[in-house]
Amino acid sequence: MKTEFKKNILCIGAGYVGGPTMAMIAYKCPQYKVTTVDINPVRIAEWNSDILPVYEPGLDEIVKDVRGKNLFFSTDIEKGIKESDIIFVSVNTPTKTFGVGAGMAADLQYWEKTARKILECSETPKIIVEKSTLPVKTALAMERILTLNNNKVHFDVLSNPEFLAEGTAVKDLENPDRVLVGSRQTESGLAAREELVEIYANWVPEERIVKSDIWSSELSKLVANAFLAQRISSINSISALCEKTDADIANVTRAIGFDSRIGSKFLNASIGFGGSCFKKDILNLVYLCRHYGLNEVADYWESVVKINDYQKGRFVFNMLTAMFNTLAEKKICLFGFAFKADTGDTRESPAIFIAKRLIEEKARLTITDPKALKNAKRDLHGVDGKVSYIEDPYEAAAGSHAIAIITEWNIYKELDFEKIYRSMIKPAFIFDGRNVINHKRLFEIGFNVFPTGKPALTHFE
Ligand code: NAD
Ligand code: UGA
Repeated sequence: MKTEFKKNILCIGAGYVGGPTMAMIAYKCPQYKVTTVDINPVRIAEWNSDILPVYEPGLDEIVKDVRGKNLFFSTDIEKGIKESDIIFVSVNTPTKTFGVGAGMAADLQYWEKTARKILECSETPKIIVEKSTLPVKTALAMERILTLNNNKVHFDVLSNPEFLAEGTAVKDLENPDRVLVGSRQTESGLAAREELVEIYANWVPEERIVKSDIWSSELSKLVANAFLAQRISSINSISALCEKTDADIANVTRAIGFDSRIGSKFLNASIGFGGSCFKKDILNLVYLCRHYGLNEVADYWESVVKINDYQKGRFVFNMLTAMFNTLAEKKICLFGFAFKADTGDTRESPAIFIAKRLIEEKARLTITDPKALKNAKRDLHGVDGKVSYIEDPYEAAAGSHAIAIITEWNIYKELDFEKIYRSMIKPAFIFDGRNVINHKRLFEIGFNVFPTGKPALTHFE
């Protein structure tokens, strides 16, 4: 085993970002020792086990290849800090739930605790890399903490936001559109930036490593997520109009997507975006704008979240009206609970809202998902209603009045819908919140089909 490493890299926070990102650095840079630490011992034990805490296609192979060689997972945060040259901070930065800015601002308590821990344990100079998504100017707060008590250890703080998407994390890390590194424009800041660039240059082409000042880097992360989410809210708002006018959202998307200025990616109409970041980061942006008195700008971005809430509500309302204005005691099967395909993550999944609303209407729910049932049970824990969790989609759909497609898992495209139709109560309904199944074929089988942003196909007069 190699014992002499060029540098020791530490990552604080072994979550969806810290774990996969460090695995990729270790995989691409055998000359660096990479250690990921966390306050949660269960998470660390899982990273050291055969079943990783995060499901990501391709991640198992990478972790198993480098774990124990130059990739380590540990709970010993102090030792990790002491021995490190470069520290990535990838702790969670959720929306604040209390006090000033509750429901809007980022909760920076985990971030600040980490900064204080770094100060307490450091004996040698270090580069601190902001990996978490943070409000612009957070690096200043980090610098202020790290220079408390006339501390003699020198720190350089860099911003290096992460752009990976869940479900494609390995692909995104291996072949990123860009890597963004922001620094202070001082001699020491620029030198630190070059050290970080040197790590990424092991596998990322030079032209895709974007160097920037630190504040623009911090802000760019919030803006990237806001723009991505804004595309989804834009197309979802038009899906509502399509349903009223017999236009087809797929045709509209294709037509506008040919314009190279608009582009065709990330324009799939849906039940709304979920995931731990879009809503949180937009609200963070909105809060910042209001803080600086930019109320019109804040209102503009807040509307992206409002349309998303509207879209989720509209989906349930459509189900209710289509099914004769009552869902009470009807069995509804949710196909998917994860916030997108290829992940078990359910954070902010539209499924949570939809399930709760359907339960309020007194429907009986059966939930199926290939990876997210454990999280689904946790999300709906304590909700007063009839919910069952069944991994097999055929078994889950049997005896139901309606199926609602919530997550675009590939397996749902390949199911035997004739068999499913035979097992359901008639008239059988299918609500496709992702437009992933062949609507015409399902209609021919006998289903009443309600796509998103397309005319409904029903057997009623
Ligand atoms: P996560 O909740 O999965 O992981 C964060 C980890 O940090 C947890 O395991 C937690 O126990 C640990 N932690 C918290 N405080 C700690 C402390 N003081 N010391 C040590 N460990 C501590 O979160 P995540 O999804 O990995 O997100 C992390 C950051 O990255 C967030 O700011 C998020 O906005 C950003 N981000 C997330 C994604 C994503 O796809 N999830 C993508 C890009 C950026
Ligand atoms: C998103 C961004 O894509 C990443 O670049 C960013 O790093 C990350 O947030 C983050 O900061 O956490 P993620 O949330 O993992 O990544 O997944 P996305 O693929 O962006 O999907 C987000 C949501 O939008 C999902 O619910 C997805 O189903 C939905 N979506 C996506 C649509 O409804 N339509 C689309 O066309 C695309």
